[in-house]
Amino acid sequence: MFSNNQIFAAPLAGVTDRPFRRIIREFSPENPLVTEMISCHSLVAAHKNCLRNFDRYDDEGQIGAQIFGADATLMAEAAKILQDAGAKWIDINMGCPVPKVATRANAGAYLMRNHKLAGEIMSAVVRAVQIPVSIKTRLGWDDKHIDWLNLINVAAGCGVQFAALHGRTRAQLYLGNAVLPDVHDAPIPIIANGDIRNTSDVAHAESLGYAGVMIGRGLLGRPWALSEIAGGAVPDNIGLVVLKHLEYTIEYYGARSAVMMFRKHAAWYSSGLPNSSEFRVRVNSITDVNDLKREICEFWGCELNM
Ligand SMILES: Cc1cc2nc3c(=O)[nH]c(=O)nc-3n(C[C@H](O)[C@H](O)[C@H](O)COP(=O)(O)O)c2cc1C
Repeated sequence: MFSNNQIFAAPLAGVTDRPFRRIIREFSPENPLVTEMISCHSLVAAHKNCLRNFDRYDDEGQIGAQIFGADATLMAEAAKILQDAGAKWIDINMGCPVPKVATRANAGAYLMRNHKLAGEIMSAVVRAVQIPVSIKTRLGWDDKHIDWLNLINVAAGCGVQFAALHGRTRAQLYLGNAVLPDVHDAPIPIIANGDIRNTSDVAHAESLGYAGVMIGRGLLGRPWALSEIAGGAVPDNIGLVVLKHLEYTIEYYGARSAVMMFRKHAAWYSSGLPNSSEFRVRVNSITDVNDLKREICEFWGCELNM
């Protein structure tokens, strides 16, 4: 069974922001976490409308900062900024399938189709920083191009230290079951990603030669999921976890934005519980943060100390 430092939180754009990572950390002090993907353009230009461009990572433990882009010089520049901000390693996105990234910007999953450009980016980033560099990729572009091992070999040649492999192609997006290949022949450690939910999934990944596992959607509304998979308990009072996560969201984004940003989290936390659809409808119409706190307390039956 893998230990905590081999059970990673996946990068989830719009989800694994600093407030969510903070609540994950309370359950999982040792696990490696990866940030949401950060645009190298936005970071280098220090776009003010994107708070994550100004995050500091010194107090976040084992945290990798994920960048995406298609320009090797800008990617290297972005990696240096994140190293200076306290990231413990740099992760390069080579799997994002959305058209804005993969087809229009020649970044993310596009790099699986252009190993030359991928190699230039990886070499530039590895040269630019003193911390480890990893990549996160998929099996290939589609089922006719399952060439992840070629890309991993290029990565190893560029000095990339490890890779996360999502067991789907770009064409599959997030549909169908993830299928993990055997990685015993890979030249660098590979972290298994895709539909890892329980200890038998972890054992399966281990038997295929993986060096760890990475959990994405299993964390939605379940910031304790990394510790749970390693045998930890689910918290007794989930309402208090939700309230704390909301507090962290308010601290980071301010009360007005936090109410909007938190709607999706409230939906995930309540998913599957009795009366959750009515709860979601009410939460989606709330604009005042104190009303949101009251609604959360009422739903989970916890005390509100305002
Ligand atoms: C909402 C959402 C956002 C995602 N954002 C990113 C991202 O920023 N960078 C990345 O490499 N992968 C991203 N992914 C992919 C996940 O990291 C992961 O590879 C995928 O969800 C499969 O793992 P899972 O089955 O454990 O969720 C995202 C996935 C989802 C559902």
